[in-house]
Amino acid sequence: MCTRQRDFQYNNNMTNRADLIVGIQWGDEGKGKIVDRLAQEYDMVCRSQGGHNAGHTIWVDGVKYALHLVPSGVLNPKAINVVGNGVVLSPESIINEMKQFENLEGRLFISDKAHLNLSYHALIDQAKERLKGDKAIGTTGKGIGPAYADKINRTGFRVGELLDPAKLTASILEYFEQNRSLFDIYDISTPNEAELLVELEGYSSKLAPFITDTTQLVWRAIDDGKKILLEGAQGTLLDIDHGTYPYVTSSATVSAGACTGLGINPKDIGKVIGIVKAYCTRVGNGPFPSEDSGEDGKRLGEQGHEFGTTTGRARRCGWFDAVATRHACRLNGVDELALMKLDVLDGFDEVKLCVAYEYNGKQIDYMPSNLDEVIPVYKIFKGWNNSVGIREFDKLPADAQAFVKTIQEISNTKVGIISTSPERDDTIIL
Ligand code: GDP
Ligand code: IMO
Ligand code: MG
Repeated sequence: MCTRQRDFQYNNNMTNRADLIVGIQWGDEGKGKIVDRLAQEYDMVCRSQGGHNAGHTIWVDGVKYALHLVPSGVLNPKAINVVGNGVVLSPESIINEMKQFENLEGRLFISDKAHLNLSYHALIDQAKERLKGDKAIGTTGKGIGPAYADKINRTGFRVGELLDPAKLTASILEYFEQNRSLFDIYDISTPNEAELLVELEGYSSKLAPFITDTTQLVWRAIDDGKKILLEGAQGTLLDIDHGTYPYVTSSATVSAGACTGLGINPKDIGKVIGIVKAYCTRVGNGPFPSEDSGEDGKRLGEQGHEFGTTTGRARRCGWFDAVATRHACRLNGVDELALMKLDVLDGFDEVKLCVAYEYNGKQIDYMPSNLDEVIPVYKIFKGWNNSVGIREFDKLPADAQAFVKTIQEISNTKVGIISTSPERDDTIIL
């Protein structure tokens, strides 16, 4: 009854909405920096999908924070941080991450409906990758795929079950017994009952104060007029439906995923900000049309410090892909783009921008389902210097300004934010 009344009130007041940050490329676009920068103005920051495959880096006054499951609003002492039901949660990973911060009680909430990502999920993930050999996806090895597979298979366990560790121990052992032949393929032994109980009791005691019904929490915040920011993980081209399948992650990384992953409805979504790097990177395997495997790609990696936050792997590098960006903007309903790492392009004689694809002998301006077969068509820009740390658009080198304007035109989306260093304040708001 109470919930219905709140819904009714909300539907009569369409002004309060949650703004959304979404990755437009293959992840690692700089979502962490923008969420942290914007979180200073928000009351609540929510994660809705993914798990500790995410690595969101934030630099504040020379201090680096690497976040995987804790939302990037944590550095704003006034913001409430929510881990939604769509996340797959490794208790071990979040407990380790939480140690960096003090007084999280009352500032961090974890959905009781989020699914548990336990150590056997990572073992399955790694074993499957080994068995695939040269067809491996190049996952982070964190158990993301197997944890989501268990959820969809209706054989997963939820965060709320941690509150009764003895019952959860029995359920997990029963699951192992019923699936023994599957675990045998991957050479994974059944956990020892006493050890499993101790492990789960440890997670339970540390996480119990944070576990709650986050759907109600978020609805209340919306009804109370709080400002809410939704923090996407991974990127559009890694989306389970719309990405470069099968070289994708196992969640809905596009803006629509934020609704199911938090229990909000499409009308609750306000502004959508798409995050793009001024060039492209990809970790793991799969098609990447504008990849540069030569000296320029190597230089982008070095200047951009392109090593994975989660796995330390070198990221593959290439040029900005405006075709994929336009496609992703449409998919996500992007209102404006945040163009990150413009400074990394400093010092190149020429900067390339992929403006079309060649596909089956024709030039096309859309993204086909199979990116394997496209060849990039580039527009070449004269390079520039000294964009690092610039905080006003007019002070950017003229060639960098022209590059930004072309991205805006071809993507058919306004560039509303430009980032010129990892630091929170080296940001141009247009
Ligand atoms: P996320 O996964 O989208 O949050 O991105 P990551 O944190 O994995 O990777 C982005 C990297 O770029 C991090 O090391 C950031 O500190 C860094 N970064 C973010 N914005 C900028 C920028 O404008 N310039 C430079 N040079 N680095 C940036
Ligand atoms: P953030 O949030 C970049 C990639 C992996 C692999 C594929 C599947 O920091 O942008 P998974 O472990 O999810 O099953 O791996 O997805 N991947 C990411 N790449 N940034 C990420 O997150 C990623 N999370 C997963 O490298 O190619
Ligand atoms: Mg990252």
